[in-house]
Parts: sequence; C-alpha cells; structure tokens
Amino acid sequence: MSKWIISSFESLASTNDTAKEFDPYSVIHAHMQTKGRGRNNRSWQSMDGNLFCSIVLPLTNNASAYSFVAGVALAQTLAHLSPRIKWPNDVLIEGKKIAGILLEPSDDKLIIGIGVNVKNHPTENMLYQTTSLAALGDDVSALQVLDRLLENMTDVMNILDKHGFSKIRQTWMEYATGLGLPIKVRLPNMELTGIFETIADDGALILGTTEGKRTITAGDVFMIGKNNE
Ligand code: BTN
Repeated sequence: MSKWIISSFESLASTNDTAKEFDPYSVIHAHMQTKGRGRNNRSWQSMDGNLFCSIVLPLTNNASAYSFVAGVALAQTLAHLSPRIKWPNDVLIEGKKIAGILLEPSDDKLIIGIGVNVKNHPTENMLYQTTSLAALGDDVSALQVLDRLLENMTDVMNILDKHGFSKIRQTWMEYATGLGLPIKVRLPNMELTGIFETIADDGALILGTTEGKRTITAGDVFMIGKNNE
C-alpha cells in the first residue's frame, strides 16, 4: 500500500511552492504550471501533457541523498527506454534531457520537484537538447508515469533506509553518463574541464583536471564532443 497522499490541481504557479504548504508524504501534482522553475534559477517550460509534481518529505540531515534517490527512481520509471543520469540528476534518453529534478528545503521539509516531458518537449533556447516520451513512441499519460514514479520512490527510499547511501550511489553509477569521459562543468562564475572520474561518498562530482582533482557539489555538466549531452 502506498504512503503517498496525492493532491492534483488543474493549474499551479509551481508545484514546489504549493508543496511547501503540505505535510510530509504529500505529493502535489498539477496538469499545468504557469511559473515552473528549474535548477540554478532557470525557468522550466511547462508544456501540455507533461508531468509536474512535487514530493514532500521530512527534512533530514542526509537530504542531498534524495537528489540521487529521485534520479534513480526516475531512471527506473523509464527503464524500458534505457535512460542515463547526468550528474547530479538529469535523466537523459538517447543523450537528450527528458526529466529534471529540483530539490528545495523548506522549514522542516524537503520538497522534491520533478518534471517529466511526457507528451511534449521544448526545443528553443535550451541549455541541453530535450526529448519526450511521446517523441520516443511511448504513449503514456503523465498520471501513469507518476504512479510508477511513486512506487519506485518508495522502493528506493526503502533501500536508502536499509542499506544507506552507498547502495544508492552504486545504482546511480550504473545509470551514470559520462563516467571516465571529458566533461565541462559550468559553475556560477567559471567553467572547468576535466575527466568525470567518479562521485564521492557524499555524491559530489570528482573532476580530474590538469591541476589535480576538484570536488564539485553543484554545477551544470556538459559532455565534451558528444553533442551537448
Ligand atoms: C531542472 O532540471 O532544472 C529541474 C526541473 C524541475 C521541474 C519541476 S516541474 C515540477 C516542479 N515544480 C517546479 O516549479 N519545478 C519542478
């Protein structure tokens, strides 16, 4: 039996904002968002038929683990399409972004906002190439994706509770794109290039550069020479 309590709305500014008013284990879903947001203060284009939802959890001191928990749960939800995860939690199919995750703490809660391109995907002025389930021939609805996602969230959260972050990290690595390859990391005021060596025990990206190893805790990753993946 699921512990999630789903509230569904026709239209919201951002499901992450509404979620802040709800208790842990609530899930806020909207058919449309008018002010969806993404990581690093970017906007999230909320197109018809896509999934917009936010999961409310109690805020714990291992909150950052949930970035990886959500990434793995999303990848499992799309497993039939051979997804990859680009650090920290963008889900890609055929090298194109299909889903994004935005973690925001709020008082004693952690809000995990998830957007999945189900029926449509934006094409203009995008930082990365994008795709959608429909474009890949998968004719499902946003609510069907949400159902599967919540089942997988439950399973992956149970794994975190029982086995700790190391097990989540191991599964995340199986889905990772770019491991061992040259990448560019865009930070707020600089860019670094190097080899994506691994992720640390706390999920930080370890970049091997000509000046030694750098530990990156936040940034945008671009594959070098692989079509903007
Ligand atoms: C990203 O990749 O930049 C994260 C995108 C997160 C988008 C989702 S859609 C549902 C939730 N509400 C928001 O305003 N943002 C997240």
